[in-house]
Amino acid sequence: MNVDVILGLQWGDEGKGKIVDHLAKDYDIVARFQGGPNAGHTLKIHGKKYVLHTIPSGIFRDQLLNLIGNGVVIDPITLEREISKLDESDINYKGRLLVAHKAHLILPTHRYLDAASENAKGKAKIGSTLKGIGPTYMDKTGRNGLRAGDVLSHNFEKKYKALKEKHLKLLEQYPSIDFDLQAEENKWMESIERFRKLPQVNGEYFINQAIDEGKKILAEGAQGSMLDIDYGTYPFVTSSNTITAGVCTGLGVSTRKIGEVIGISKAYCTRVGSGPFPTELNDDMGELLRKEGAEFGATTGRPRRCGWIDLPQLKYTIMLNGVSQLVITKIDVLNIFSEIMMATHYNIDGEKTSHLPYDICDVEIQPILQKFDGWESSLENITEYGDLPGPAKTFLETLERYLEVPVTMVSTGPGRQELILRNISAEV
Ligand code: GDP
Ligand code: IMO
Ligand code: MG
Repeated sequence: MNVDVILGLQWGDEGKGKIVDHLAKDYDIVARFQGGPNAGHTLKIHGKKYVLHTIPSGIFRDQLLNLIGNGVVIDPITLEREISKLDESDINYKGRLLVAHKAHLILPTHRYLDAASENAKGKAKIGSTLKGIGPTYMDKTGRNGLRAGDVLSHNFEKKYKALKEKHLKLLEQYPSIDFDLQAEENKWMESIERFRKLPQVNGEYFINQAIDEGKKILAEGAQGSMLDIDYGTYPFVTSSNTITAGVCTGLGVSTRKIGEVIGISKAYCTRVGSGPFPTELNDDMGELLRKEGAEFGATTGRPRRCGWIDLPQLKYTIMLNGVSQLVITKIDVLNIFSEIMMATHYNIDGEKTSHLPYDICDVEIQPILQKFDGWESSLENITEYGDLPGPAKTFLETLERYLEVPVTMVSTGPGRQELILRNISAEV
């Protein structure tokens, strides 16, 4: 069996958690392959809202295993908090939540460094979630990091101390910031005790054996492709490979074992933090999208920047990921609009283009917008694609035509059931 992939095609928060939860019912394993507690994946099940940061979004389906892969960076404090929430809701995760030995650990001083570095950047700050993601991946590539498997070794505390001391030296270069290291360290060490009790596996052997046994595996992305360290709007990105290629390095899966690649996009576009956003609306329309879409970060609570859907941007991330199916979420947020826009091209210095420029952070981009009629009605209780209002179908089918990928799912609300599955072959 191949590993299917689900990931965000924009700047994150596309609704990955909800879609993974839906698809998970047909899988044996859901595995996170990158990112860490900068992610906030929201699920709404039987009216109750859950936000996951580190735990894969398959945890609410009893029949499957959830793996935190080696490409993920783990803060044991956040993970413990997430696990406590599962306990409170009587969700049985015991024996179903596994950690790859090679996943790296976020130390309190990584968070400290993240804050100090952002502070020092002043106006040029990335808008990081301040969860210690960048400094932890820097220690990974700098070959200094602590890994999940290290908590089982007899000299764990010694390794921890050595890394902490290194961080404290680095921190001397920054103006000091408010951070109670002793208190955070105590909390962290307590969480490590609980973390030690979670089952750990050699992630790469575990996944490949499951593939050989014919198990169905779904790899769950965090962030979005426009935040990818190599291909995103650098430097306003996160510190991992958020694209399909990240599945291979983040789980130990060969490129030949990748199956379906399911790309998710909102029916419009959002971004949290700094950096370029060609279709951003800094007006009443943007404000209305934020209000209707309840666009506030699931991890930090920050207001998300809002704008129209951007086809050059989506074409780019579809190319990078090899997307075979598209999922469009939050289409219901557009219900009240009489007119809806879609950017089909960019105008850069008088030139029409559908390519993202290298210097996207420095050039002025004018999106070329195509106008669509809105449907101005509720989509509640619509479960068949054919029952969607005509203008909604025109909007979706135009997307498909431009992007050359079929739309196989349309999400019409945050709830588990608010989803239209489209049987393309039956329509042809
Ligand atoms: P993720 O990080 O990609 O998992 O997305 P987030 O959870 O950060 O943000 C998506 C938000 O939209 C969450 O609050 C979801 O409950 C909500 N959501 C997901 N799908 C839909 C949808 O189709 N319609 C509406 N109105 N909300 C949705
Ligand atoms: P999910 O998985 C949206 C953004 C931050 C910031 C930049 C770098 O919920 O879609 P970092 O903390 O990684 O150093 O921040 O990336 N960012 C996200 N934006 N959704 C996310 O995750 C994000 N994770 C990081 O806002 O601009
Ligand atoms: Mg999110």
